[in-house]
Amino acid sequence: MEPLRAVLASANPHKLDELRAALPDWEIRLLGAAEFPPEVGRTYYENARAKARFARSKVKAGRWVLGEDSGIEVEALGGRPGIESARWAQEPVERLLEELRGEEDRGARYVCELVCISHDQEEHRGTGTLNGRIAHERRGSEGFGYDPIFVPEAAELTVAELGNDWKRANSHRARAAAALRRSLQARL
Ligand code: IMP
Repeated sequence: MEPLRAVLASANPHKLDELRAALPDWEIRLLGAAEFPPEVGRTYYENARAKARFARSKVKAGRWVLGEDSGIEVEALGGRPGIESARWAQEPVERLLEELRGEEDRGARYVCELVCISHDQEEHRGTGTLNGRIAHERRGSEGFGYDPIFVPEAAELTVAELGNDWKRANSHRARAAAALRRSLQARL
């Protein structure tokens, strides 16, 4: 079968790598845009959909488009930084460690929302979460963002220590991609 050709509305090569691994029969490239729409939605879904619609307006009909929004929700902070994760602080890892200093409840989860739009404007979505907890210090060098301090449930190592192969198979993004694939199954 022909690969499904898609364009991802993101500048983040880590996200591209994870989505390519999760959707191996898709041929995905990044949208080469100088700027993306501001993240003004109230939910990950609204932001992901705005990015996908932006890509739809830029990309010719032969390709599908993908929008993605993700973040980390920390229980002791009432779910913050959440959809603010990308712009919460200049040094988000340090800020999170500081805010949780002395805190016993370190539960957290990653969330990812994916939206894809076909050439005939049909929209599908997939949501993925990864539960875990915030470590007491940075460990590991792979992944990006909060990965050096995020320990998935049933693990002792951080995502940055578990590494990119682990992440490609288990991340909130991989889970969102699997849900998106299920939503699309009837269509393809
Ligand atoms: P977005 O680019 O607006 O979706 O921002 C997502 C932000 O959430 C990133 O800048 C990271 O701070 C955080 N985040 C989302 N997914 C991940 C992940 O897989 N690892 C680490 N941090 C993540």
